[in-house]
Amino acid sequence: MFIRRLTLRSFRNFEEIRLEFPKGITLIKGGNAQGKTNLLEALHFLSTFKSLRAREDADMINYGAKKAYIRGEISREGRIFIIESYISEEGKSVKVDYKFRKVGEAMGKCVSILYRDEDKDIIRGEPSLRRDFLDEELSLIFPRYRDALSSFKKVLAQRNALLKMNASSGELEPWNQEFAQLSSILIKIREEFITDILPYFQSVHSQFTEGKEKTSLEYLRTTGREKEEILEDLEKAEAEEREKGMSLLGPQRDDISIKIDSMNARYFASLGQVRTLALSLRLAQLLYLKNLLGDSPVFLLDDLSSDLEEERRKRVGEILKLAEQSFVATTQRELFPLPASKELTIKKGTVLEN
Ligand SMILES: Nc1ncnc2c1ncn2[C@@H]1O[C@H](COP(=O)(O)OP(=O)(O)OP(=O)(O)O)[C@@H](O)[C@H]1O
Ligand SMILES: [Mg+2]
Repeated sequence: MFIRRLTLRSFRNFEEIRLEFPKGITLIKGGNAQGKTNLLEALHFLSTFKSLRAREDADMINYGAKKAYIRGEISREGRIFIIESYISEEGKSVKVDYKFRKVGEAMGKCVSILYRDEDKDIIRGEPSLRRDFLDEELSLIFPRYRDALSSFKKVLAQRNALLKMNASSGELEPWNQEFAQLSSILIKIREEFITDILPYFQSVHSQFTEGKEKTSLEYLRTTGREKEEILEDLEKAEAEEREKGMSLLGPQRDDISIKIDSMNARYFASLGQVRTLALSLRLAQLLYLKNLLGDSPVFLLDDLSSDLEEERRKRVGEILKLAEQSFVATTQRELFPLPASKELTIKKGTVLEN
């Protein structure tokens, strides 16, 4: 799939822009604080209808305006979809082909993957960031995961509240059943995903490192996979859970172990290694989804920094040829050592061709 056209009105520092994009790589050039990330944020919004960096949707409305408007034309398997959204202080509306849709229904019509600098925290940060990575990815592609996750969050909150007030085992029991049922769904989908993405991850990473480093990904469970196993674990943990007043095992406690040559990347990887791993993870996501959907997602790269040596930046360009369309933001043209299908320069919210 690819995004043919984008219109923005009062979105961040753009007053009104209309852009056309080709397949292949579009380079977005510009100095700091000119609007490169804002443009990628708008493109990514067409896929998830939220921003990864805004505290709230209204942050995306231009300071002087009341409403932001985003419109994208998506070409997917020979069809054109029109995705539109209005964002106001009161909320947002979403339309697909001029019909109002719930966010959940419109999600995944356009699929894009955004790599950003903060992704290094997936490698280096707390386990919750790796769980967020899984939750975001899997919610986008599997409605069953999205539904289970949303129910799980409610059940977890309720279960924690009951543990905190030291409710009777009888009161806890139905929540344990729900908790174990939903945990099992989430854990199985997550584990399967890690298994499926691993070969892509290793292949991309070894292209970056010319096979000199060997990486692994492993899902670290705090309990069993099956409902019955989880119920047994809950029984064993009951005393401690009551004492702590919270749920101590389950998908809300799991993690992903990321290793380079059997060392834990979280603690031992260098900055360049961390960036390479994070980028490999996002590119693996691209290849995994391309295979799963039978259609390539759009890849958004914010931004190509000088932290990566030239050889690795060149490899990024080569791997991106596998995406039907990609966007690469950079402050300096030279940082992307390959030709692009289109080049744009952003200056204070104005977009110039070339
Ligand atoms: N809601 C908004 N209304 C108007 N301007 C905004 C809004 N939100 C952010 N901006 C402005 O947009 C500008 C550009 O932001 P952006 O993050 O896109 O820059 P960038 O080109 O990616 O820069 P860098 O190279 O530093 O990452 C910032 O100066 C910010 O003040
Ligand atoms: Mg930026």
